Amino acid sequence: MRAMGTRSYDAAAAAIRSSLTAGARDDQELIRLASLAASSHNTQPWIFERANGSILIRPDRSRRCPVVDPEDAHLYRSLGCAAENLIHAASQQQLRASVDFDESLDSVVIHLEPAADVEPTEMSAALTTRQCTRTAYDGRPVPDEELERLRATGSSESIECLIRTSSGDIEPIAELIDAGNRRQLGDKAWRGELVEWVRFNTTDALRRHDGLAGRVNAQPSLPTVLGRVLAPLVIRAESQVRTDRARLQSSAGVAAFVASEDSKASWVEAGRCYERFALQADLFGIRTAFINQPVEVADLRPRLEQLLDAEGAAQLLIRFGYADYAPYSLRRPVDEVTAVP
Ligand SMILES: Cc1cc2nc3c(=O)[nH]c(=O)nc-3n(C[C@H](O)[C@H](O)[C@H](O)COP(=O)(O)O)c2cc1C
Repeated sequence: MRAMGTRSYDAAAAAIRSSLTAGARDDQELIRLASLAASSHNTQPWIFERANGSILIRPDRSRRCPVVDPEDAHLYRSLGCAAENLIHAASQQQLRASVDFDESLDSVVIHLEPAADVEPTEMSAALTTRQCTRTAYDGRPVPDEELERLRATGSSESIECLIRTSSGDIEPIAELIDAGNRRQLGDKAWRGELVEWVRFNTTDALRRHDGLAGRVNAQPSLPTVLGRVLAPLVIRAESQVRTDRARLQSSAGVAAFVASEDSKASWVEAGRCYERFALQADLFGIRTAFINQPVEVADLRPRLEQLLDAEGAAQLLIRFGYADYAPYSLRRPVDEVTAVP
């Protein structure tokens, strides 16, 4: 029974990562590939809307996480991740894409223009394979040329990607992650919000197609009611601290995305830069996972910025390294994330 559930979960995760059937409209394919992007707690907080020659990505505020993300910064960063995927997906259809954050529409606008000289970007090959891999990595260092390529790929005019690989630089950051874990896991409201997004079994995961599935994180399957009662009791700060420490130690390094200002437009841009980094990393066989605790706990953030010598606001923090792929997360069907005209 459990094996069958696992098989149908894996089949659903693979189906959303396969091309749509013949006859599907091209913009549906763009939206499918955009929605494979990372999003905070896999909330998929986006609504795609077709407009004249463009696609808008609007925030879906019904999917907010007010405790971990009171300002909606992660929500807009998630929209940025989807926008970056959409650009690479567009290149596969010979469409030139440019991205704006439109304050008056409160949306990311992706202008699309047919152009015979546009070729599929290299990164478009990783749209269906990128994932956040939360397992331990194998400790191997990343060659300098690849580190430099990742740093450049993850940077833009307003975002600086900072990479740290030495244990001397990483240890004080690890201490901040410990402190963040203790603060977050010691907070009942934070645990409650996390549990809302955990999908405790494949039936629940396949009903919702969102959230944090046990299959992805190698957690045992539980009836939802039991999981909701047990999870807040068994998720303990000290065991999470130990797990995250070991996973960080197994990694080749950490990367931080720092913005010159803190605004909706820069949140979107930071999401774009992370997604680009992760697509490029995937092409190198390198996995990534977020370790955002010192960004999310507001009073730890200045210390993180100081440790990084950052000239600006830290937006996202990840670890990276070599590992096999883990099971993939699910996505809602394209129709569910597309606005009806
Ligand atoms: C803005 C943002 C913040 C995130 N924060 C965390 C985090 O703190 N810890 C974590 O394990 N994953 C974090 N994630 C990763 C998501 O949980 C992940 O993208 C989602 O579950 C979908 O899985 P996938 O990226 O493997 O497709 C974050 C993603 C985004 C875009």
